[in-house]
Amino acid sequence: MRKIYIFDTTLRDGEQSPGVNLNMKEKVEIALQLEKLGVDRIEAGFPAASPGDLAGVSAVARAVKNATVIGLSRSRTQDIDAVREALKDAQDPCIHLFLATSPIHRKHKLRMEKEQVLEAAEAAIRYAKQYFSKIEFSPEDAGRTELDFLCQVTEMAIRAGATVVNIPDTVGYMTPSEFGNIFKTLKQNVTGIENIQLSAHCHDDLGMATANALAAIENGAEQVEGTINGIGERAGNTALEEVALALATRAGFYGAHTTLNLKEIAKTSRLVSKLTGMVVPGNKAIVGANAFAHESGIHQDGMLKEKTTYEIISPETIGLVESKLVLGKHSGRHAFREKLIDLGYDLGEDAVNAAFGKFKDLADRKKNVSDEDIRAMLEEKLIDTPE
Ligand code: KIV
Ligand code: ZN
Repeated sequence: MRKIYIFDTTLRDGEQSPGVNLNMKEKVEIALQLEKLGVDRIEAGFPAASPGDLAGVSAVARAVKNATVIGLSRSRTQDIDAVREALKDAQDPCIHLFLATSPIHRKHKLRMEKEQVLEAAEAAIRYAKQYFSKIEFSPEDAGRTELDFLCQVTEMAIRAGATVVNIPDTVGYMTPSEFGNIFKTLKQNVTGIENIQLSAHCHDDLGMATANALAAIENGAEQVEGTINGIGERAGNTALEEVALALATRAGFYGAHTTLNLKEIAKTSRLVSKLTGMVVPGNKAIVGANAFAHESGIHQDGMLKEKTTYEIISPETIGLVESKLVLGKHSGRHAFREKLIDLGYDLGEDAVNAAFGKFKDLADRKKNVSDEDIRAMLEEKLIDTPE
């Protein structure tokens, strides 16, 4: 099975979520939890962005012992020098250089011709190579870059000394088949491609970030970039927990795996949510509060008979204790009876049936019926009609 390297950018692209601002201590706390999760690479920030970010990246570089620590840099010497300063104490430092390559960015943002982009990127990589043995280069907005030019840029980056070439779908515009095709084309046409790792960096503007990352893996990507809970610029990045669980659950299909300690996923998700203040939606895949909750009677009955009827992942896999059977108006008698037993009520069949009728009336009025609601309902019933 092929190993897929996990590049976590929660502390950089994730921190670019509007309203998120992590201090040095919070960055270190998240980085240490990411190490427990077993991510291979941690992008700790963008040192040239502010003195605070430089200090945050330095603190992460000092604290992290196993993962590679990465600092982001525009293709400019001042930025590269800021990353050098920030990563001087890192055990395994890496610089992440980027320069936009798409026609839209070349024309409106950079006001540069293709040749100038190639020259500027090459100069930056060669400058960085004097100080870093590990260099990742990203042609920003690669998804909307002409494929032949992207091949040219990738070849230049390899010649100049990049060790990873990352393909960002910066604006989340790609479909899975288009994005996969970029990787296939680069693998087939770029000289020296076997000497570097290809990486996928996707945004979720059309809700396809995870699907695009998986399409990249199917077409030869060796690294996936993303964030915990999928946070990040605008609609966010690929959610790393989704990629990890897709590979683990569909190992036979992808033939690839990560070396993440999956049992740390729930804990990492909760920590990132707490420190960034970004609430995880209830229906979020893998880490949402409802990801292992079942409400309908048919599903609950199936779950009580055999969990694999309605669960493709067990909650224990990501470090949770157990699935939840949530009582609501769709719930059935089977789940209700189990709940009564859980709550310590040993009622006869007739009493259970009477209580079930009352419960359905209550469930029509309340979205979720809590344990307390059931206790109150039963105590009232037992007083009303003692058996
Ligand atoms: O989305 C993007 O293009 C980025 C780059 C800096 C890699 O985050
Ligand atoms: Zn990004």
